[in-house]
Amino acid sequence: MTDGFFKYQAQTSPYPLALEISHAKGSYIYDTNNKAYLDFVAGVSACTLGHCHPKIVDAIKNQADKYLHVMVYGEYAQQPAVDLCAFIAKHLPAPLESTYLVNSGTEAIEGALKLARRVTGRSQIIAAHNAYHGNTMGSLSLMDFEERKAPFRPLLPDINHITFNYEPHLKHITTKTAAVIVETIQGGAGFIEPENNYLTVLKAKCKAVGALLILDEIQPGIGRTGKLFGFENYNVIPDIVVTGKGLGGGLPIGAFTASKAHMDTLQDSPKLGHITTFGGNPLIAASALATLKEVVNSDLMAEALIKEQVIRQHLKHPLITQIRGRGLMLAALTTSADITNKVILEAQNQGLILFWLLFEPKAIRITPPLTISIAQIIDGCGIIIDLLDNISDHN
Ligand SMILES: Cc1ncc(COP(=O)(O)O)c(C=O)c1O
Repeated sequence: MTDGFFKYQAQTSPYPLALEISHAKGSYIYDTNNKAYLDFVAGVSACTLGHCHPKIVDAIKNQADKYLHVMVYGEYAQQPAVDLCAFIAKHLPAPLESTYLVNSGTEAIEGALKLARRVTGRSQIIAAHNAYHGNTMGSLSLMDFEERKAPFRPLLPDINHITFNYEPHLKHITTKTAAVIVETIQGGAGFIEPENNYLTVLKAKCKAVGALLILDEIQPGIGRTGKLFGFENYNVIPDIVVTGKGLGGGLPIGAFTASKAHMDTLQDSPKLGHITTFGGNPLIAASALATLKEVVNSDLMAEALIKEQVIRQHLKHPLITQIRGRGLMLAALTTSADITNKVILEAQNQGLILFWLLFEPKAIRITPPLTISIAQIIDGCGIIIDLLDNISDHN
């Protein structure tokens, strides 16, 4: 299979992991030799309920028997999308009640940026250093790593950057600012939480100058931090909340939610202010709704915080300097990028899936499915500790 993978499938890097997948179930992925891999990554925070959760599979099968794509987003009333948007509205604080469904996280970010410009009539967008919001032109424009942006310029103009958690930079938010966009917990930067009421103060500053606050919940959202939305941990209500990844239960999705008054601006002058063919797709909406219902109606969110403590207890090692993050959005930092690389690559041989973070080379990503068991967590942590012991012995 890998021959075709390298020959015909466009690559994102010269060194993909290239695991040959046979099937996946619960917390395990199986390769074509039927070797099991315990999944500490969950498709990069996407597989909230693990792999092929029966309630998600049932929801998809039931919907597949009724209808698939019937019309572009926004024309026909389709029960799965209506129910999904209503569920999201019910679980978000006022005035966040109108949701636009799209196909990926980055598309939801694009929609949120357009909405902010439309609502405020302003153009300036302020993002944070070390942020990641996706890879389409608008989302890429928000990133501040010039080496990653330069080959694709010209990008969006009127983007400025502030340092996350650094209050003196809030003075750059002015009456020219359409929106400030930050990740609720910075992901690629190393799972950095907001500190000292930063998000509360940031929202107050935005409000004072008439700018909108967009929170990117694409990684922290959907129960991963012990709350359905990560921002519920930090005493803030954004003007626009963007979700994706874990919302889909293993299928591709993005969504941005705002007040009805704000969202209505996309439908008029010009009409069709944002359009998409497949957004709100019934199969995907059914899968997302099944995921949300299970997260909300089970103990998974409370358990995420207990599982965090188990991980923290079982990942104590001289080569681990720090564990950042909250709930099941954790990053273990080792003493060097080299050690992190060795652990991630060797873990795969040992039957444990780990992964990197985009901009923090010392970080080992630990974002397992919320459904992982305590015993499985202890097994996986044991593999990491053995690998680190081995590295210590050879140094
Ligand atoms: C915080 C954050 N925002 C946006 C995105 C983009 O989402 P997608 O890859 O679905 O376009 C990601 C993806 O990793 C992300 O982590």
